[in-house]
Amino acid sequence: MDVMEELAESSEFNESKGPCLAFRQAASVLKSLPSAVRCLGAIQGLPWLGEHTKAVMEEILTFGRSFKVEEIRCDERYQALKLFTSVFGVGPKTAEKWYRRGLRSLKEILTEPNIQLNRMQRAGFLYYSDISKAVSKAEAEALGCIIEETVHWIAPDAVLALTGGFRRGKEYGHDVDFLLTVPEMGKEEGLLLHVIDRLRDQGILLYCDHQGSTFDVSKLPSCRFEDMDHFQKCFLILRLEEGQVEGERGLQRDPGDSRGWRAVRVDLVAPPVDRYAFALLGWTGSKQFGRDLRTFARKERQMLLDNHALYDKTKRNYSYRRLLRRTSLPIWVWSMWSLGREM
Ligand code: GTP
Ligand code: MN
Ligand code: MN
Repeated sequence: MDVMEELAESSEFNESKGPCLAFRQAASVLKSLPSAVRCLGAIQGLPWLGEHTKAVMEEILTFGRSFKVEEIRCDERYQALKLFTSVFGVGPKTAEKWYRRGLRSLKEILTEPNIQLNRMQRAGFLYYSDISKAVSKAEAEALGCIIEETVHWIAPDAVLALTGGFRRGKEYGHDVDFLLTVPEMGKEEGLLLHVIDRLRDQGILLYCDHQGSTFDVSKLPSCRFEDMDHFQKCFLILRLEEGQVEGERGLQRDPGDSRGWRAVRVDLVAPPVDRYAFALLGWTGSKQFGRDLRTFARKERQMLLDNHALYDKTKRNYSYRRLLRRTSLPIWVWSMWSLGREM
């Protein structure tokens, strides 16, 4: 399945959206299987496995490797784009631009005089070795405690939830995602800014990109999964001290590293309380699960789902109570999860 992720990534770099999605879907089906596939017969009848995927799997089962994937791994362009996009703030477009200028390593980018990095990319390079290391569950929990204390010091009735991969039970993640809100509508507006100020005062805010809410109730839902939601949010880099992490392993870092702290990427999202359930569902992920759920809503239920609401065909959105009574949304979620979509 890692092979499928690599194929998806390579298609993404080539702007082949169809194949990219197909390989991601194949990867999530393979991940959901109870055991490793040992013969082609085992994947007969499974959904989302197309000809391409099956051909790659046949190669692996027959020769123990895929020549197509090995070719991609050796490809200079793939290697460079993969390296460049591993920097926080660098997307495929910027990576491609750098590649076209003949740049191949991170050092070359930093020493090339004509390259202007934006603030996010500068932070990405500055903390590169830390934020490219996986974040453990113990580290995520430690950050959860810090943020909870900060949030509750400002608003004792605020609600904070750990979302993203850790809410799905993953042991490691590339960042830590949180949702926060307050019971009184509109009060969440100032809360996030207040939290950021307080993290800065504590000396643990290494980087902050705050995006105000662009939420407009009259706007139609966005059907494109790739479009970000309109909630107020911030992408942060926080400083986590060694003593704050429980467990024998402590901080995830290099063996010789004696700094006593590491940088961690954190996302905070602050939806208004009446959108909380949709935001929680959307931000729990996985991305593939979110995509599938939206497709299911549209194709099987003739409704539109995004991170803000579930809309009926007349474009009026459902309230919580009507949602539970009329649409059986929780049942869809449960049944899709139990069907083993990617966790
Ligand atoms: P790791 O952080 O790698 O462990 O995985 P993750 O699933 O937590 O991924 P990530 O932190 O990137 O995103 C968390 C969830 O937020 C995703 O699963 C998505 O549901 C949601 N999300 C993030 N980016 C987008 C986006 O661009 N569009 C939409 N619609 N949702 C997004
Ligand atoms: Mn995450
Ligand atoms: Mn995230």
